[in-house]
Amino acid sequence: MAYNILVTGGAGYIGSHTVLQLLLGGYNTVVVDNLDNASDIALERVKELAGDFGKNLVFHQVDLRDKPALENVFAETKFDAVIHFAGLKAVGESVQKPLLYFNNNLIGTITLLEVMAAHGCKQLVFSSSATVYGWPKEVPCTEEFPLSAANPYGRTKLFIEEICHDIYRSDSEWKIILLRYFNPVGAHPSGYIGEDPRGIPNNLMPYVQQVAVGRRPHLTVFGTDYSTKDGTGVRDYIHVVDLADGHIAALRKLSEANIGCEVYNLGTGKGTSVLEMVAAFEKASGKKIPLVMADRRPGDAETVYAATEKAERELSWKANYGVDEMCRDQWNWASKNPYGYGSPDCTN
Ligand code: NAD
Ligand code: UFG
Repeated sequence: MAYNILVTGGAGYIGSHTVLQLLLGGYNTVVVDNLDNASDIALERVKELAGDFGKNLVFHQVDLRDKPALENVFAETKFDAVIHFAGLKAVGESVQKPLLYFNNNLIGTITLLEVMAAHGCKQLVFSSSATVYGWPKEVPCTEEFPLSAANPYGRTKLFIEEICHDIYRSDSEWKIILLRYFNPVGAHPSGYIGEDPRGIPNNLMPYVQQVAVGRRPHLTVFGTDYSTKDGTGVRDYIHVVDLADGHIAALRKLSEANIGCEVYNLGTGKGTSVLEMVAAFEKASGKKIPLVMADRRPGDAETVYAATEKAERELSWKANYGVDEMCRDQWNWASKNPYGYGSPDCTN
């Protein structure tokens, strides 16, 4: 019998790509999303891309903090596992509005965990982040590194990781996988789904993409005096389809006995600078990206990339795509959808 998977935040960037891989993998998939930072068009397109498997997707527009509504979703379907993406993720906004972030991310997660426990669903995959490594003393970052939080967003990830460990300590029936994503970029190779941030993008590649399609005049490079190959920040960019596949690998792991509460990095293990990423995108798109060099962005680390051995060994998963494919697919999505899922008059 097919597995039933609940995906919170499944209309979002990483969620929509993961839902597609789930459907193609034969999973029945129920999405819960309040559409605060997503469009239901993404799920319509996922359904189309999934072909015959599209019929196995159900969507509920529900806020995770609405416990009665979430109870109804669990009453309708017996879930084998939950993949929990739903949350707010803008670092700068979290500094301005910490209570919004604590309310949404923490209360949303606690409500979800309560409803899961009440319905006997004790298998969870959670979206954590490389942000929990702060400014790492060395690289690559292994899962055993000391953790810290530089802002309220990061603190919600740290808290939720701790909450998950406590839940498992209190009840060993739980199986929980905490996935620490590095920097997800790119889009599905079809160019039909991709990242569509609201407002001014915070992250590098969505910004570059908007410069390339003429929505913004230039990219501001935050910091040119880091001790890196070219002075700009170095990150571990990972293709969103590889990341999505990492969730399928995590689900397979959940079916093993006694896995406890385990954490895995999802990255490529390779560091790429801002200037290298821009050059790769220019090559893929044939577009020149005008640059304005600026000071460091407060809170940014210099170099962050993943140790990938644990995920390779225990999840039998590793990233397949490199930055050229990431940029190719990002451009394919951007050029086909210069205004994302919206139209020119509903963006800023
Ligand atoms: P996203 O904003 O595109 O997706 C999150 C989804 O959750 C959105 O569709 C939003 O509408 C929904 N949502 C938010 N709060 C909700 C609530 N209370 N109830 C129901 N739905 C709610 O973000 P994403 O990039 O796809 O990220 C998914 C997860 O991965 C997030 O938890 C994020 O913190 C984490 N993560 C993202 C990155 C990244 O760079 N994109 C890196 C590390 C970790
Ligand atoms: N950068 C620029 N200009 C921009 C945006 C970014 O130069 O307009 C630089 C940054 O300074 C950094 C690099 O590009 O050196 C990557 O920045 P991103 O904002 O794309 O990514 P971060 O690594 O800073 O953080 C992101 C998410 C975090 C998450 C982390 C790890 O914003 O929430 O990846 O997954 F925790």
